[in-house]
Amino acid sequence: MERRPRRNRKSEAIRSAVRESQLTSANLVMPIFLVDGTGINEQVKSLPVAYRKSIDQVLIEIDSCLALGINKYIMFPAVSENLKDKVASYSYDENNFYLQAARTIKEKYGSDVCLISDVAMDPYSSDGHDGYVENGEIINDITLPILGKMALAQAKAGFDILGPSDMMDGRVGYIRDVLDDAGYYNTSIMSYTAKYASAFYGPFRDALESAPKSGDKKTYQMDPANKSEALIEAELDEMEGADFLMVKPAIHYLDIIHLLKQNSSLPIAAYHVSGECALLIAAAERGWLDYHKAIDETFMSLRRAGTDVIISYFAKIWAERHQ
Ligand code: PBG
Repeated sequence: MERRPRRNRKSEAIRSAVRESQLTSANLVMPIFLVDGTGINEQVKSLPVAYRKSIDQVLIEIDSCLALGINKYIMFPAVSENLKDKVASYSYDENNFYLQAARTIKEKYGSDVCLISDVAMDPYSSDGHDGYVENGEIINDITLPILGKMALAQAKAGFDILGPSDMMDGRVGYIRDVLDDAGYYNTSIMSYTAKYASAFYGPFRDALESAPKSGDKKTYQMDPANKSEALIEAELDEMEGADFLMVKPAIHYLDIIHLLKQNSSLPIAAYHVSGECALLIAAAERGWLDYHKAIDETFMSLRRAGTDVIISYFAKIWAERHQ
């Protein structure tokens, strides 16, 4: 035998020298579920690594994540039902607890923390959809000005990066224009470019109580069967001014991550979503696999496929073991 690839695997010293992908906590983003109030720290039943926290608890969490080298956070609000309406008006009420929390975090940590928002109607919508609903239909162009108001309020509150997760057509360009017109040209946009209509968002919708009241999200989120369509979305997001392209979910869509990485010069983010985490937790609880090794492999697979930025509920758990 002339060639024996195993020689390059014979010791950790050699394996580490030829390792093609690397991962540090600088690549990771930690999600935060925010609730109104103080002293609240409730575990999410269907995602036991995640907690719904009030702002005082979020600050404690940020301190412990910063000590582990995690300085990027993506924050989602759990809004009580009585504040929801058809036009998600609470989302751009400048005194809402989500925008207040962002101001508190940015006042305390400044540029030591990078804070990413969620731009979508669903946490604030009485219909539980990401867009405006009329006779059961999601109306794209009525949704855009609502997203624009939400985005502007978030930029004013100090979010570093806005994350439109709604999948309406034209929303990146619309939001970019609104931000630029108001002087927020330094606020970035991380677009949920290829967001699929996935079964793996279940625990997230439990955490936020944001499931659609009727119908599904298939007229705006992408069909899991499609790949070329991700290129259309990527092309539009680039043209409209996105700073990052995101693929979501992550592990079931490694081919899409690879495709976008090869076809775009923009950094690629992947959202390792709630259901993808939940299935590892459930298997580990049964003793069916090694939890920490499975997390390492999951993250490395995402890096290998071309992910620059990994959003995952396991970010902190990974960082604790790689100091
Ligand atoms: C909605 C939104 C969802 C997630 C992030 N933003 C759920 C959905 O589209 O219904 C899911 C994240 C996760 O499952 O971890 N705008």
